[in-house]
Amino acid sequence: MRIFAIKGDIIFSETPQTLTIRPNAYAVCEDGLCAGVFDALPNRYAAIPVHDCTGRLVIPGLTDLHAHAPQYAFRALGMDMELLDWLDRQAFPQEARYADQDYARAAYTLFADDLRRSATTRAVLFGTLHVPATLTLMALLEQTGLVTRVGKVNMDRNGTDDLCEPSAAQSLRDTRRWLDACSDFTRCRPILTPRFLPSCTDELMRGLCALQRETGLPVQSHLSENQGEIAWVKELCPDAQGYGDAYDRFGLFGGDGCPTVMAHCVWSDEAERALMRERGVFIAHCPQSNTNLSSGAAPARVLLNEGQRIGLGSDVAGGAHLSILRAMADAIQVSKLHWRLNDPDAKPLTLPEAFWMATRGGGAFFGRVGAFEPGYEFDAVVLDDAALPCPFPLTPAERLARIVYLAEDRAVVHKYAAGTQLF
Ligand code: GUN
Ligand code: FE
Repeated sequence: MRIFAIKGDIIFSETPQTLTIRPNAYAVCEDGLCAGVFDALPNRYAAIPVHDCTGRLVIPGLTDLHAHAPQYAFRALGMDMELLDWLDRQAFPQEARYADQDYARAAYTLFADDLRRSATTRAVLFGTLHVPATLTLMALLEQTGLVTRVGKVNMDRNGTDDLCEPSAAQSLRDTRRWLDACSDFTRCRPILTPRFLPSCTDELMRGLCALQRETGLPVQSHLSENQGEIAWVKELCPDAQGYGDAYDRFGLFGGDGCPTVMAHCVWSDEAERALMRERGVFIAHCPQSNTNLSSGAAPARVLLNEGQRIGLGSDVAGGAHLSILRAMADAIQVSKLHWRLNDPDAKPLTLPEAFWMATRGGGAFFGRVGAFEPGYEFDAVVLDDAALPCPFPLTPAERLARIVYLAEDRAVVHKYAAGTQLF
């Protein structure tokens, strides 16, 4: 039995509205699971090793519910376009580079190293359509100890000459070949990844549904991100009630046995949101990407109050920053503009709410993840804010607020994922 404790100023969420703060306390990990938080170690734990992080903050690992690993290489470039132009002129040509395994290894090494050092312990990621490159990404992530889901992308229409699968049959064959080849990975597991509706023929969507039912694998895609995209989906699927319904008609919109993440949901109407709630679809809220690509402001307050399953995504490289600390600040700031400019009833998100989304909200996609509660998988990040001096004393909550608003990922000094210390 592997058992240890971390001692420090422990912060986590029990409800979206409040932070639970346990100064100078012990978070105990037993066989990869949290056994609880204690002000003093109970006698039964008297002899266990203690990782003494006194004076540092200890928070649950953060979840990035949506990012594109191949796009990390060109983050912060080509940001003056809207989604559809950006895909054709920036994202697709850049992703085409991953046909070259040497390039893929070099680029994915940078990505995996930076994700490992960040405050993120869990991530749900897109690769590219290329099988060898996606396997290289998965092997690199497996070595980091992070817990991730990675998708070989399916896209058999509306791509570019050098980034489009030749047929649905070829896409499905490659997907099976990829699934066979990654079956030995334990921390980096596959997720089915139809890029978005405009990228996938009906035949491919039907084939992916059959594969999903056969394997039980989760699914990720994009939903209602941008007005031009939504108009295009209407043209492509004239019979569907809406974008979400278009996925649903192919059986790829959540429900029992089909865990699903949909990125964005900026423009989802009431009917679409009702369907997401009914099906337990996870929403990856990606405020920085929605700003960079001028997509809009997702109604995060409404989504949260409706009881949607919602976490935060960097959506690198629609978002330029891999930091989920930064995503928390972005979510709050975007919600303030949305409140002021669009919806006076949609009160801005608070820091505890953004923290809840970044920890428990997204973590729930991986099961019992994102809190120091008994039975939760033990993901922990130790933060040292010594490099952010302040001339007056700060509470633990104030120290956390500074690390979030300053997106200070350099404060991460130790990290644990599913009970394993990464560094
Ligand atoms: N929709 C389809 N592909 C993409 C992508 O790569 N990024 C974003 N933000 N939206 C998409
Ligand atoms: Fe995306």
